Amino acid sequence: MDFISEKLTEYISENSNKEPEILARLNQETYQKILKPRMISGHVQGRFLSTISKMKSPSTILEIGTYTGYGTLCLAEGLLNEGMIFTIDRNEELLKIQNKYFEQSGKRDNIIQLTGNAIEILKDLDKTFDIVFIDADKENYIEYFKIVAEKLNKNGIIISDNVLWSGKVIESTSKHDEETNILIKYNRLLNEDKRFETIILPIRDGLSLSRLI
Ligand SMILES: C[S@@+](CC[C@H](N)C(=O)[O-])C[C@H]1O[C@@H](n2cnc3c(N)ncnc32)[C@H](O)[C@@H]1O
Repeated sequence: MDFISEKLTEYISENSNKEPEILARLNQETYQKILKPRMISGHVQGRFLSTISKMKSPSTILEIGTYTGYGTLCLAEGLLNEGMIFTIDRNEELLKIQNKYFEQSGKRDNIIQLTGNAIEILKDLDKTFDIVFIDADKENYIEYFKIVAEKLNKNGIIISDNVLWSGKVIESTSKHDEETNILIKYNRLLNEDKRFETIILPIRDGLSLSRLI
């Protein structure tokens, strides 16, 4: 869900850095061929990820939830020359479309795809990161945070997607489902964690930035 009107969303899109042509094609192919295309980050959120990454110039990035690779390519834009982005997804059917666009992007050698359950992969992933983008199953958000908080480099950033969950996080508790309850706990946990400074932004479905102090 977008929290602002369609017209204002269009205005923001028109007055923000243009979507690179390769990403426009990936977005179009995702909508034409892949299930649940609304999961893709898309133009404005993608430019936000790109900007944060360019400001940070990371040498290592972790993405939990690759989907068709749109967010991966946006985050990869800021990587240092030898930098690497590790991206995890359990759906191996997505590898074909990811590979097609990763090849065309010029960033193929900077991207490592890890296929399988993210919790299992993370436990064995002996790396530390400058940026982590959490964008997979909401049920595991708290577990992801606990694991990646220990794998962040100094001044590292965790970006979490869907934290406003179509506005359900402020609905009366009787309407809450499991995912909503977890996101409410997640947002509180991050804000109360003294190791981090967290800010929630109303971009698309809610995006939070947590900076390791
Ligand atoms: C919202 S999409 C990711 C969108 C992508 N980050 C982007 O910017 O366009 C979520 C993805 O997480 C994957 N996923 C969900 N639960 C997972 C899990 N437990 N382990 C690994 N991948 C998972 C799904 O297969 C799906 O492709």
